Amino acid sequence: MRISPQDGIGVIVENFDSASDDDVAQLKRAVYRDKIVVLKGQDLDPHEFLALGRRLGRPETYYEPIYQHPEVPEVFVSSNVPKDGKQIGVPKTGKFWHSDYQFMPRPFDITLIYPQVIPTRNRGTLFIDLCKAYENLSEELKLAVKGTTATHSVRRYFKIRPTDVYRPISEVIEEVDAKTPPVISPTAQQHPHTDETILYLSEGFTLSITDANGVDRPDMLRELLAATGQLDDTHQHPAIHLQTFEQGDMLVWDNRSLVHRAVHTTAPEPTVSFRVTVYDDVAG
Ligand SMILES: [Fe+2]
Repeated sequence: MRISPQDGIGVIVENFDSASDDDVAQLKRAVYRDKIVVLKGQDLDPHEFLALGRRLGRPETYYEPIYQHPEVPEVFVSSNVPKDGKQIGVPKTGKFWHSDYQFMPRPFDITLIYPQVIPTRNRGTLFIDLCKAYENLSEELKLAVKGTTATHSVRRYFKIRPTDVYRPISEVIEEVDAKTPPVISPTAQQHPHTDETILYLSEGFTLSITDANGVDRPDMLRELLAATGQLDDTHQHPAIHLQTFEQGDMLVWDNRSLVHRAVHTTAPEPTVSFRVTVYDDVAG
């Protein structure tokens, strides 16, 4: 396989052979070191895509069944294209800054996205490296972050399911809070593979920051989110990387140290993407 750098964050990998242990080991190293890997020239069905995911870790099936591929539940489907008159997966997913499963006790370690139907305009995914974000904080803010915790929840972006129609919204919110209660984690975390410090928060899922004295700090949350670039609605912040892709590309990224958001086409164009998420079984 051949690895070459790309502009912004990440590398491009050509001639990857998933049967080769050496290629898989190189791919893993690249994911942790370079954060985003674009695997070129992939031609896989959902079963083969899942098998590739297994080479990187233990796949986790998404907890909400409406997102699951009808034949391969471990494959999460983002789609606005009905199949045989039926909605498959969920349209317009992830249009806000987040990391995958950040609202769960154990977020995914590695995400693989395999675009299937790619719109001609406004395609891509935006990324921000939260290790760089921490590194770039002032010494004063780094000190202030020490000992604080962040609370994450899906409640602001939980998507109403077809079965929720005609249910009172309060009942749906209650169910969300019972099923996925808010999780608390250190605001600054150490990456188990690279030892970098991750400023672990997102505009989409992080509800609050609590300081070492137990005091809620909305001011600090805002300041940190702004410092990472996540509050820049123009998406022109220098920390924001736009990852585009073409047919046959697969994106593999380090979900511990990146936040991302989908760019959705405003034109009514068909878009379909498959996703597999895995645990690499290293704590952290
Ligand atoms: Fe996502």
